[in-house]
Amino acid sequence: MTTSQQTIDPQERFLEFFKKEKYRQRIRQMALTGKESIQVDFEDLFAHDQALAEKLLEKPDDFLTHADHAAYAQLGIEDQEYAEKMEKITVRITQLLGKEQLRRLGSKQMGKLIMIEGIVVRATPVRPMVMQASFKCKRCGTVTRTEQTGPFLKAPFECTDPSCRQKGPFEFVQEESTFIDSQELRLQERPEDLPPGQLPRVLNVKLIGTEIVDLARPGDHVSIVGVVRAVAPSRPGIGKLRTFILHLDANSLEVLGKEPESSPPSPEEEEKILQIAKDPFVHKKIISSIAPSIYGYEHIKEAIMYLLFGGVSKSLPDITIRGEMNALLIGDPGTAKSQLLQYVARIAPRGLYTSGRGTTAAGLTAAVIREKGGSMSLEAGALVLADKGIACIDEMDKMRPEDRVAIHEAMEQHTVSVAKGGIVATLNARTAILAAANPALGRYEPHRTVAENISLPVTILSRFDLIFVLRDIPNREADTKMSAHILEIHRRGASPVEAQIPAELMRKYVSYAKSVKPVLSSDALKRLSDFYLAMRAASETEGSPVAITARQLESLVRCAEARARVALKKEVSAEDADAAITIMKRSLEEVGIDLSSYKMDIDIIMTGKPKSVRDKMQVVLSALMAMERETGIVEKDVLTSELETKYKVPRAESERILGQLLREGTIYEPREGCLKKT
Ligand SMILES: Nc1ncnc2c1ncn2[C@@H]1O[C@H](COP(=O)(O)OP(=O)(O)OP(=O)(O)O)[C@@H](O)[C@H]1O
Ligand SMILES: [Mg+2]
Ligand SMILES: [Zn+2]
Repeated sequence: MTTSQQTIDPQERFLEFFKKEKYRQRIRQMALTGKESIQVDFEDLFAHDQALAEKLLEKPDDFLTHADHAAYAQLGIEDQEYAEKMEKITVRITQLLGKEQLRRLGSKQMGKLIMIEGIVVRATPVRPMVMQASFKCKRCGTVTRTEQTGPFLKAPFECTDPSCRQKGPFEFVQEESTFIDSQELRLQERPEDLPPGQLPRVLNVKLIGTEIVDLARPGDHVSIVGVVRAVAPSRPGIGKLRTFILHLDANSLEVLGKEPESSPPSPEEEEKILQIAKDPFVHKKIISSIAPSIYGYEHIKEAIMYLLFGGVSKSLPDITIRGEMNALLIGDPGTAKSQLLQYVARIAPRGLYTSGRGTTAAGLTAAVIREKGGSMSLEAGALVLADKGIACIDEMDKMRPEDRVAIHEAMEQHTVSVAKGGIVATLNARTAILAAANPALGRYEPHRTVAENISLPVTILSRFDLIFVLRDIPNREADTKMSAHILEIHRRGASPVEAQIPAELMRKYVSYAKSVKPVLSSDALKRLSDFYLAMRAASETEGSPVAITARQLESLVRCAEARARVALKKEVSAEDADAAITIMKRSLEEVGIDLSSYKMDIDIIMTGKPKSVRDKMQVVLSALMAMERETGIVEKDVLTSELETKYKVPRAESERILGQLLREGTIYEPREGCLKKT
């Protein structure tokens, strides 16, 4: 850097930069693509003229204007015709040398050009904003054009007609004003940038210009270069507050990919990962490293392992099949469900822990929010924010009614669609879900069906690949071991069993394994299809319950693929298939055994009732309806006796069924002891 260079006009120095071949080419291409802005890689500028690049960071308002003018001048040289068509062009700077942390932003960065990364949680629709407003004087009719800055529309100070010079009134002339597209985003810290145990911070970002609005949707990870601004919020009638609120005026925006998780493993870590994968007992090793402080639950930890690694998504030309798995834990209070979920959220790459209600107004899926000024914006919920990660949803049964509707699409199609308040959008939610819920009646009632035990509709239940029940049953032997385990934790302040794989390495291992895409071997395929066909055959005989559906077959494939992935294998072996079948059977047994026929019955999950119960329900209902036709009103006692004598349904059983029908609203009680069909 010579002294003479420093004294040269900054615009001249930018012009020199734009004369580099790479940028001359970019400028020439502007007309072809009809662009209004030119992208400048900060690194190029820094290499060309370090002092200028540093000035740009320090005083972006002045220096970005110099850059815009220089780029426009060069456009005049390269393509005069296009330059005449454009009034001005915008220089957009990308990829600064370092990025700022959202939570560190403060007075020091005010007015500076910075780069920040985060996840878009909210976005307004694109709105036109006035740049140059035309005002017509109501006295003489002269039109005055005024440059607009700040949030409010400003009329001219006085009429520009020398013979008028009145201070209004003026009328805004929309047709003669110039508008530009604008949009506001809310940026949140990414889960991976968050210090443990901290709530994420947010920052509002203003976008101006056709080329940067509408680039990012809620849920997207973005890198934004912009100028930090501080605005004092004003209270009507009081004035402006002394504390300012920060926001970012964006200069450029890039949507980042979601693939590269946290930092890739170092060569030593990669060595360790390959070492673990080679171990013949790799699955045991990983299972025992999942929440080692939580005693027992081997099968649940196995399911969590499959969920962490996931199956392989398939996108065919006509449909896509999700690879991510969903698992549900239904359990008595105090059975370590929340602990397991929190642990998984910590070790999963891009893991997120939330309660069923969600932590924001958007809940689990997405919502259209009315902002203070009355404008609408689209906010992403937990499943969208956890896109390509794992969402751990505690107390799932307590989710908002809106989510109950939207979650069906999210769980199977992996998208969230919103059409409300003028906003129409589809957001990605390619998320594996680990959910927990309490039984509807406080404790799990084994003689009731799963659907009766949990207040979630069966259409949601059927979207879980695996469901497990955690029951808290006093058992001398197990209690002794468990209490010894828990007391040891409290005495030592550490887990009695060390994790064989530390959490940090585990996260890297999982990310690493995701690049392996195992395919089914013919052996594995045969095992799965044999199992599926045998289960289907069992239900072929007339009147027997349907045991298993295509959904379970896909779940089996996902489990088997995940198991192969754990060992970093490219092929799913027969052994993987067997393990998948075993865990699937266990899950089906826990939730699906039809107690009166002892047959696996997926109808319980699909319709909420086992076949035999449905048959009995049908009997009870038709008896009730017959009686109603005859006598007009049905006495409960008379009905149950008739069911006992005529149809051989025990009194206790019919009372239970009637209770269920009452709860469902199929029948109701017009008065005490009387029943009527709705
Ligand atoms: N198997 C276990 N091993 C170790 N600790 C356990 C086990 N079961 C329960 N605990 C302990 O019991 C406490 C309660 O667990 P937690 O809060 O996770 O229960 P929960 O299933 O979420 O209950 P709720 O349904 O009421 O929310 C925790 O401190 C947990 O460590
Ligand atoms: Mg809990
Ligand atoms: Zn006038």
